[in-house]
Amino acid sequence: MKIALLGLGSVGRGVAEMVDKKDLGITITAVADSKSGYMDPAGVDIPSLLARKKKTGHCGDTGITVADIIKKATYDALVEVSPTNALTGEPSTEYIRAALGRKKHVVTSNKGPVSLAGKDLRALARKKGVAFRYEATVAGAIPVMHLLEHGLSGNEILSISGVLNGTCNYILTRMADEGLTYDQALLEAREMGYAEADPTYDVQGIDAAIKLVILTNAIWDTGKKLADVERTGIDLLTADALRLAEEDGCTIRLIAESCPKTHVLRVSPRILSKNHPLVVEGTLNALTLTTDMAKEITLIGRGAGSVETASAIIGDLLYIRDQYARRA
Ligand SMILES: NC(=O)c1ccc[n+]([C@@H]2O[C@H](COP(=O)([O-])OP(=O)(O)OC[C@H]3O[C@@H](n4cnc5c(N)ncnc54)[C@H](OP(=O)(O)O)[C@@H]3O)[C@@H](O)[C@H]2O)c1
Repeated sequence: MKIALLGLGSVGRGVAEMVDKKDLGITITAVADSKSGYMDPAGVDIPSLLARKKKTGHCGDTGITVADIIKKATYDALVEVSPTNALTGEPSTEYIRAALGRKKHVVTSNKGPVSLAGKDLRALARKKGVAFRYEATVAGAIPVMHLLEHGLSGNEILSISGVLNGTCNYILTRMADEGLTYDQALLEAREMGYAEADPTYDVQGIDAAIKLVILTNAIWDTGKKLADVERTGIDLLTADALRLAEEDGCTIRLIAESCPKTHVLRVSPRILSKNHPLVVEGTLNALTLTTDMAKEITLIGRGAGSVETASAIIGDLLYIRDQYARRA
């Protein structure tokens, strides 16, 4: 399977490294970053690519654009791993549309296009007879989409709830364990590289809400938007609130929940008993799916990271390869 890689940052590098290290039957034939591009229909030499990127900051030639790659490169699937624009979804949505328009499969970790234009992109992929997959957009390495589509096929999914933001979970864990204030825990999260310089998207629950929208629409095809999510972040939580919860054998976690029957679509800090399955530590993510037949299933795993996110991307790619090989 030949892939074109749009983005060679943390996730793109993870994908390239794993493709190079493991015998997956995947060849990278094109790659682009924000300022350059590189194409080789016979397969890019990955160690040289990564060394060049590290040394010069460019993956290739500044004369080769993303548009060149999408339109001219030889590939079966576009792997779109450029930064998320949560407000417009651009330019990534246009990149994805262009690749689907060329009847190329698309796999992405980018939440913007999926949360804002997921329905259109899924429809376009269907029309063109190709796949559009986005396992990596929600809960990093946890294969929730695959489980929903396959392992739980035949089940009615009744509700989902989960910890979808590792930064918030880290802050809450440290506040509870060490009695830190919110500001102290946030500072520590920044020092550890878990929080951005501007942590708004994480701590106000926006990132978790976007992931909740993606999951909700993927499961129930409800056309929900970020504005439909009732949202409270963790930025106003006090150390006292955590302490009081601890005194009762409980703790606080930022929980994203969706249940169409009860019209719940919410991200908010919740007091949970310490042995609740969603009380996971540090930057972990967790998700409980409630279904009619299987009842509750909880998945716990890493919600981010270079190789962890590459795991989800590669899972989607190999799934597409197997599905379409069977149809051929
Ligand atoms: N990191 C994670 O653990 C994780 C987990 C789940 C999902 N995601 C999502 O995955 C995506 C990639 O994340 P990341 O952490 O790899 O980001 P990153 O480290 O910032 O890398 C982004 C890459 O995209 C390139 N890029 C920027 N603008 C571009 C454009 N217009 N066209 C093509 N390439 C462009 C950048 O180029 P330069 O190298 O030239 O700057 C860089 O190579 C994001 O949407 C993120 O939200 C990340």
